[in-house]
Amino acid sequence: MNKPHGGTLIDLKVATADSVDENIPAIVLSQRSEADLEMLATGAMSPLRGFMGLSDYRSVLDDMKLDNGLIWPLPVVLPLNDDEAKTVGSAEAALLEDSGGRTLGKITISDIYKADKEDEAESIFLTTDSAHPGVAALLNCGDWYVEGEVEVYKLPHHLQFGEYRQSPADLRKKFDEKEWKTVVGFQTRNPIHRAHEYLTKCALEFVDGLLIHPVVGETKRDDIPTDIRMECYEAIIDHYYPHRHTVLSVYPAFMRYAGPREAIFHAITRKNYGCTHFIVGRDHAGVGDYYGTYDAQRIFDHFQSEDLGIQLLFFEHSFYCQRTRSMATTKTSRAMDHEKIFLSGSKVRKMLIKGESLTEEFTRPEVEAVLRRHYQNG
Ligand code: ADX
Ligand code: MG
Repeated sequence: MNKPHGGTLIDLKVATADSVDENIPAIVLSQRSEADLEMLATGAMSPLRGFMGLSDYRSVLDDMKLDNGLIWPLPVVLPLNDDEAKTVGSAEAALLEDSGGRTLGKITISDIYKADKEDEAESIFLTTDSAHPGVAALLNCGDWYVEGEVEVYKLPHHLQFGEYRQSPADLRKKFDEKEWKTVVGFQTRNPIHRAHEYLTKCALEFVDGLLIHPVVGETKRDDIPTDIRMECYEAIIDHYYPHRHTVLSVYPAFMRYAGPREAIFHAITRKNYGCTHFIVGRDHAGVGDYYGTYDAQRIFDHFQSEDLGIQLLFFEHSFYCQRTRSMATTKTSRAMDHEKIFLSGSKVRKMLIKGESLTEEFTRPEVEAVLRRHYQNG
């Protein structure tokens, strides 16, 4: 089984609060911060034990590392607006509440510092364009970040996908029970189309098991809703994936759309879930035209593989090759351009909106049926 990042799987859950101090202020978490808290609590973001302070923040922006030298590509910070920063300012700790007033945990405050949003946007998203969904979210959140370790009494409340919510410890146990020594993680925010199926199955030829690990935290509005995607994953797994070698579980993080930097985050967090391998294909975690097709693969050249601790499986842009009537990439096909059918999540969405049918070159009929139902009702 692969070692977690930093060597130890973090668990920040405590049975109950020893005594919940009524006099300490409360911070009401946004959906995104709730997702971060869940990732922290379960050790998905090991070795982090809380929200980052200024020195980690700076070192992540400048060097893609934590202050202690471990690779870490994205800030994990808890934003506060001016009023909240004032209320919490002199306190030593604050309760962390969800929007329904439930106390989820507590942060021991070590510092409050000003976000450097311009630099953060440029370093993380490689743009300050507010049309970029990650930049827009950054500009929208509070200007102050509160640093501190957290303890978690209760994981965020979810109404959906209960049976698919496994922590890193749960998945590690499951992989052990299945006697999988090697596991490839697959990140996705789209229904599985034929290119995804090709990547995951090529990868599976070389490892014991496949973890299909879709993002269920916040995604941008025009992405296909999570419940529809989950139905698609169930349908495709049911008909086309060997159950002995496939696990479907949900990944509570939200999408940053940070392309290359997020690919590193996706890989390291999947290592924490027990994966030994991770798939990075075309424009991983990208949006619009902000990143080059293979930038999210090239960024890994900056690191030694032993420092990453997870094996990357890079895939070229894959397409349906009409000459061989199968999926392929330019590495495996001699097809001329007119014989290639390229597909992507956004193309599939556009076709569905127009009412065009998705043939077998795009997706399996069982997935098409779920999507069509959604688009007809919506
Ligand atoms: S995301 O995280 O990259 O936003 P998405 O669902 O779009 O999720 O893609 C999941 C994974 O499949 C990513 O690694 C992506 O690079 C890869 N991928 C998607 N479509 C293709 C394709 N046509 N060819 C190669 N890789 C692809
Ligand atoms: Mg994509």
